[in-house]
Amino acid sequence: MSHNRVDKRQVQRQFSRAAPGYTAAANIQHRMSAQLLALLTPHLPSPPARITDLGCGTGTSLAALRRRFPHAQLNGLDISTQMLKLATQTEPTAHYRRADIEDWHPDTPQDLLFANASIQWCDHCPVIRAAHQALAPHGTFAFSSFGPQTHRELAQAWAATAPADQSTSADPRLTLPTAATYRNALENGGFQLLKNTEQLIRATFPNARALLDSIKKTGATQAAPNRRRGLLGRHRYRQFLDHLDRANPPQLSYQALFFIARKRQGD
Ligand SMILES: C[S@@+](CC[C@H](N)C(=O)[O-])C[C@H]1O[C@@H](n2cnc3c(N)ncnc32)[C@H](O)[C@@H]1O
Repeated sequence: MSHNRVDKRQVQRQFSRAAPGYTAAANIQHRMSAQLLALLTPHLPSPPARITDLGCGTGTSLAALRRRFPHAQLNGLDISTQMLKLATQTEPTAHYRRADIEDWHPDTPQDLLFANASIQWCDHCPVIRAAHQALAPHGTFAFSSFGPQTHRELAQAWAATAPADQSTSADPRLTLPTAATYRNALENGGFQLLKNTEQLIRATFPNARALLDSIKKTGATQAAPNRRRGLLGRHRYRQFLDHLDRANPPQLSYQALFFIARKRQGD
């Protein structure tokens, strides 16, 4: 399984740019956060005393975690300074720090790590390694991410508009691990998997431009070819939009993956 080798400075820039409009645009991510919290609850042995939200964005999940666990020490971690600034306003009771989910260490071992719709921007192996190190014995790691079916409409439109002299056309999307890849990595990384489920969510749009705009507004610019518009040339970009518009209405699939795992005893 190949890993994402994303440019971290680019990720930080794209999310900082999207931060002011993110909360209003991120309906699917908010829905996933609520679902992750609901899935997690029956698997917690006791209310967690220390919680860190990995890739906390504008702090929506932290506010929900505060409501659910009023006495917990809450921490938010994100790579984007603008996201952190907004999260501080959303949930002022949490402690915030700018760090990379792939490479961070808490001051004190954590009881719960929560990561909603953030680790698809990372290489999952270092994320799982860092999570294992950060957790207290029997600590819980709850995360959601996106599977490879996500934005498949973009890959289809991209391939369909490839120039005739190109037999293949590189997929414009992020490389997204399958649920099986995550399960193996958790198992090999010292975790016991308690729950894994998934859901295919379909969003519809009035037209292709609105569809691409929705991706941009949630910061996922790198996943959308509109960033490469200048490189593409007008003709292929127009064809790409036309292909997306042919679906009536244009739609985007999101393969939401959910995992609840416990740090194994003795690991
Ligand atoms: C799609 S947003 C999700 C935000 C929030 N968890 C939510 O559910 O609304 C992804 C977040 O992950 C952050 N992020 C991406 N890569 C990261 C990394 N390597 N380390 C820390 N944060 C990262 C982004 O800055 C962004 O705030």
